Order: sequence, then structure tokens, then C-alpha cells
Amino acid sequence: MAICIITGSTMGSAEYVADNLEQVLISQGEEVNLFNNATFDDIKDQTQLLVVTSTHGAGELPDNIQPLFDEIAQSELDLSKMQFGVVGLGSSDYDTFCFAVDTVEKILTEKGAKLVCPSLRIDVVENFDHDSTAEDWLPSFVSKLK
Ligand SMILES: Cc1cc2nc3c(=O)[nH]c(=O)nc-3n(C[C@H](O)[C@H](O)[C@H](O)COP(=O)(O)O)c2cc1C
Repeated sequence: MAICIITGSTMGSAEYVADNLEQVLISQGEEVNLFNNATFDDIKDQTQLLVVTSTHGAGELPDNIQPLFDEIAQSELDLSKMQFGVVGLGSSDYDTFCFAVDTVEKILTEKGAKLVCPSLRIDVVENFDHDSTAEDWLPSFVSKLK
């Protein structure tokens, strides 16, 4: 089964990280589907989901992914066959550092999906190599997928 990557991003930083992870996974022989503007139909039957998202506003999901998670939260979707991981980008200048990660974890878990490893929270204030940090985290996610 392919790994599905979806991104939440405003200025593209999270998209860059996701693009790089997609390339790494492909180089490892994985099949990957990446959606920068994922819809409900794109994700509802996925069994292996990687969410790469920044946090915006005051601890909110970016506008390109917020409607999807609102829709999931309000749905009767059964995600018990889904395994997922989350990579977050955020700034520790905000009290709401990487709150989007918590939101994603909460909504998917409530629908029965299983978080397979601790989420990664990249602090863009002090971390200038997001790609390497995400690549270092990636095996903790991939190795748990069944
Ligand atoms: C208006 C604004 C609001 C932000 N709010 C938060 C926040 O609440 N929590 C957080 O961790 N980071 C926050 N950030 C930092 C972004 O998450 C960070 O700059 C990230 O790299 C943006 O990635 P993107 O281009 O993929 O959206 C905010 C940035 C901006 C410009």
C-alpha cells in the first residue's frame, strides 16, 4: 500500500519538507502519493498517512488543510485501518508552538486512526535544516508501518 503524504502550508516551507520526504521514500522503493490540497476523498481510504503541516494564526492549521480536518472531525469516518505520523513546522516564538500537530493527532485519533510514532515538531527559530531533521525522523515512522 502506498504512503499518502498531505501538506498544510502557507508559504511553502512544509511543502518543501514533504517534497523532500517524498523523494527519500521513493528512493527507498516506497510508493508515495503526495497531495498539497488534499480532499476528503483523497484520504478517506488511506491506510498509511503522513501529515506534514505548519501552524498558523494562533495555533491553527493552515488554510489549505483546515477545511479537510473540519470535514473529518464532523464526519462519521472510520479510520481504524489508518496508521499515521505527523511532521510539524512551527515557531517557538508562539505560545501555540506546533499546535496544528496536536489538532491533527486529536482528530485522526478520534476517528480511530493509529499514531505510530511520536510526532516531529521542528522549531524554525533554531532549526535551519528542516529536511535533515525530517529525514532523521522518517525511519521511526516507516519502520512502524505494517
Ligand atoms: C502569521 C503567522 C502566524 C504563526 N502562528 C504560529 C503558531 O501559532 N504556532 C507556531 O508554532 N508557529 C506559528 N507560525 C510560524 C510558522 O508555522 C512557520 O513560519 C512555518 O515555517 C511556516 O511554514 P509554511 O510556510 O509551510 O506555512 C506563524 C507564522 C506566521 C507568519
